[in-house]
Amino acid sequence: MFLIFTSKLQAFSKAWTAACGEASGFPVMVIPEGKTFLLMPILFQGPCKSKTVGVKILGTIVAPENPVMWNGKDIDLWLAFKDVHGLWMDGTGWINGRGYNWWDQSCRNKPKPMFSIYSCSEVFVSNLKFINSPQFHIKVGWSNKIHFTKLLINSPETSPNTDGIHIEATSHVNIHGAVIAAGDDCISIGNGTSDINISNIICGPGHGISIGSLGRGGSTVTVDHISVTNVKFLRTTNGARIKTWQGGRGYASNIKFEQLEFTEVQNPIIIDQYYCDKQCKNVTEGVQISDISYREAFGTSKTPIAISLNCDETVGCKGIFMENIKITSAIPGKPVTASCSNAKGKVYGVVQPNVPCLLH
Ligand SMILES: *[C@@H]1O[C@H](CO)[C@@H](O)[C@H](O)[C@H]1NC(C)=O
Ligand SMILES: *[C@@H]1O[C@H](CO)[C@@H](O)[C@H](O)[C@H]1NC(C)=O
Ligand SMILES: *[C@@H]1O[C@H](CO)[C@@H](O)[C@H](O)[C@H]1NC(C)=O
Repeated sequence: MFLIFTSKLQAFSKAWTAACGEASGFPVMVIPEGKTFLLMPILFQGPCKSKTVGVKILGTIVAPENPVMWNGKDIDLWLAFKDVHGLWMDGTGWINGRGYNWWDQSCRNKPKPMFSIYSCSEVFVSNLKFINSPQFHIKVGWSNKIHFTKLLINSPETSPNTDGIHIEATSHVNIHGAVIAAGDDCISIGNGTSDINISNIICGPGHGISIGSLGRGGSTVTVDHISVTNVKFLRTTNGARIKTWQGGRGYASNIKFEQLEFTEVQNPIIIDQYYCDKQCKNVTEGVQISDISYREAFGTSKTPIAISLNCDETVGCKGIFMENIKITSAIPGKPVTASCSNAKGKVYGVVQPNVPCLLH
């Protein structure tokens, strides 16, 4: 056990170096209970000597509150783990980004993810609470086999770009059990992702669970085998969303959304293949969207269009399956409808609103 006693960066670095350098047993770095540690940006660098390193967070870790304190610091990280293969993080502690002084400032030069995992594998993070990030709360990139369970993520609805969890260039991720309230996507899945299972999530407020945006600036993307199951969306702007930029290349395929519950969601089911800046007229490329299924989705829509499959005329969407869906208006007595363009697929069981615009 490597206990930390002070907020000094040096104390954290020393404890990490000791835990990471310990070859025998299961070395654990402990952030003790009942104390608050003000921590400047820190990189927990691997690889480590033992098979698994533990980080037990029992106390509270807070970020510098005043943007001035970030002057000259690396804004691309606050708490970052890199090249660690075998990491176990747990505890009843809080990680507070104290981002409120950043929220009304422009995006540039703001600290980015408050907690990041880069080039890591076999990572297990459970029970921790992440609040008030300046921007993204958690970012995972260039990694493999990452597991999150029982997380709490919370920032106000009005805080810009405070995505809950963003994943890119990573395979084999399991997010099971999270309560997420944020000013942007609860979970967003970016390029280079495969085998991502997301289940038992409560999302809201926030922008929902998004695949994308993908294919910006004509880039080529690959996203496949994503499963989103058992999610409650509470007053979010979107529920299950896929968004791709016009002019992008590559694909997003084999994506399942199941057991969804919507409460007053603005766009419960939405595909937008027309995501664009100004100069997207006459593009002949697009990100292929195929084999997307929606099953067992119930609840209320805040807008009259409960299902929107807005696919572009160049690549379109194919293999869209819908089964057992019932979405009604959040305003009693108002109708809701489905709208689609260039979307091919099939409907099984009862789907309300019905989707006659889905092409065979
Ligand atoms: C995701 O779920 C599928 C289907 O149950 C399973 O085969 C796969 O191993 C799971 N992946 C992860 C990373 O948990
Ligand atoms: C998308 O991800 C793939 C696979 O990881 C990678 O080869 C490609 O460069 C990425 N594209 C962009 C635009 O980042
Ligand atoms: C876009 O396409 C339309 C119809 O094909 C054409 O009239 C227009 O000039 C094109 N615009 C550009 C910027 O190429």
